[in-house]
Amino acid sequence: MQRRRFLKSGLATAGGLLLSRSNSAQSPGGEVRFPKDFIWGVATSAYQIEGSWNVDGRGESIWDRFAHTPGKTKNGENGDVACDSYRRYPEDITLLKQLNAKSYRFSISWPRIQPTGRGAANQKGLDYYRRLTDAILEAGMRPLPTLFHWELPMPLEEAGGWPERDTAKRFADYAEIVTKALGDRAGHWLILNEPKTFTSCGYWYGVHAPGRKDPLAFVRSTHTANLAQALAFKTMKSIKPTLQIGGAFDVSPMYPFTKSAADVAAAQRWDRFQNLWFLYPALHGKYPDGVLPANRQAELLGMQAGDEQLMRAAFDFVGLNYYTPVLVKHAPQGNGVPGLDTEALWATYHGSQPKTDLDWTIYPQGFYDILMRMAEVTGKTPIEITENGGAFNTAPNARGHIDDRGRIEYLREHLKMVARAIEQKLPIRAYHCWSLLDNFEWAEGYTPRFGLVHVDFKNEQRRTMKESGQWFAKIASTNIVR
Ligand code: FCB
Repeated sequence: MQRRRFLKSGLATAGGLLLSRSNSAQSPGGEVRFPKDFIWGVATSAYQIEGSWNVDGRGESIWDRFAHTPGKTKNGENGDVACDSYRRYPEDITLLKQLNAKSYRFSISWPRIQPTGRGAANQKGLDYYRRLTDAILEAGMRPLPTLFHWELPMPLEEAGGWPERDTAKRFADYAEIVTKALGDRAGHWLILNEPKTFTSCGYWYGVHAPGRKDPLAFVRSTHTANLAQALAFKTMKSIKPTLQIGGAFDVSPMYPFTKSAADVAAAQRWDRFQNLWFLYPALHGKYPDGVLPANRQAELLGMQAGDEQLMRAAFDFVGLNYYTPVLVKHAPQGNGVPGLDTEALWATYHGSQPKTDLDWTIYPQGFYDILMRMAEVTGKTPIEITENGGAFNTAPNARGHIDDRGRIEYLREHLKMVARAIEQKLPIRAYHCWSLLDNFEWAEGYTPRFGLVHVDFKNEQRRTMKESGQWFAKIASTNIVR
């Protein structure tokens, strides 16, 4: 099943009517320029690239368990070996240099640091991330670690997982250990990656680990995630106030399926849910109105007295991930979450729009739209694009060359939208391409290839720079997109 596609709908093609072809920000000369100090980066996450899942004291995560369970991932694939980056990271840092990256966003695997999710740190895990961070610094790049890119230690899931409030405290303890060990080396941090996706896909739709299908547990998990990020934020700041801390939020513009008042209202509800649910509480100490029924919200979330204060976190910057837009339809029959009553059609629905090889709609204009939307909420807080990219499954030709023009086109058009938003004075300071390497794309396994660098999983993980990688390297050194 396609990840994040929620209610399968026969309405597939009709919605495409609502989207127009993207506008281009192209200047007459056909090029756009980024500010001199713009930060070009690439992103990965631990489970998707590291492999070595059971060495040096690493514990089991929900993703190990999920991917080891037959039928959960495409072709039964898992991250046991992935790109073997745990052992090959020096080679990967060389590739980052070849890409002229100035920032490397990677994630720290919680079960490497606390194998059971609680208690003392596993020294070997900390040592690994120290070595990695040092190597990034030595290569002249900025390390940008993410504390949680979906690897919840399995024992914490067994104790209730994200719907269980105590998980927030466990997460703050983990944040404390990591900050004490790495806070002297890394000055910029992301706390949670895509809280909307890991809570909804994990606990509501069941298509990601831990694979639960319980809308009410999902609702509770969102509150724990909000508490967790704020507790972690405060803990980290108390250890080192100068750290620059944000989160990576997956945002999408919401377009109503039809012009009906009901669909327009549904699109607004889903916008407040997907785009604001994990940001608004941090910035304003409350949930956005009009998502859950006001008279049941506290009960559904399991809120306790004082939580409004607890969930505040004055982020130093905000990370935004963008891939594709969402069409939203009013669902009078409901969707399991009281009051939400929406059907959100993600990625696969527009007959008329081009698509990536993962069937995700390509809609650069949507990037601009959502950046402008988010800036209404984030104001002057600096924005970093923490992920953007596409699956283009180009194989090497007879000479071993990988001509992935689809990705170049995708990146070019999306970067133009970032440039347009900067022209509108949005404080966007960085762009991270997803991803450095072809890697384990969660439930979709190894089929979708998101990398600027090709990985031959069958031949000793051989890495080959793609055409798109060379293209990116040029942009990162000139600040010009043509
Ligand atoms: C994002 C995830 C990232 C990767 C890309 C394609 O939602 O954060 O790990 O899977 O999608």
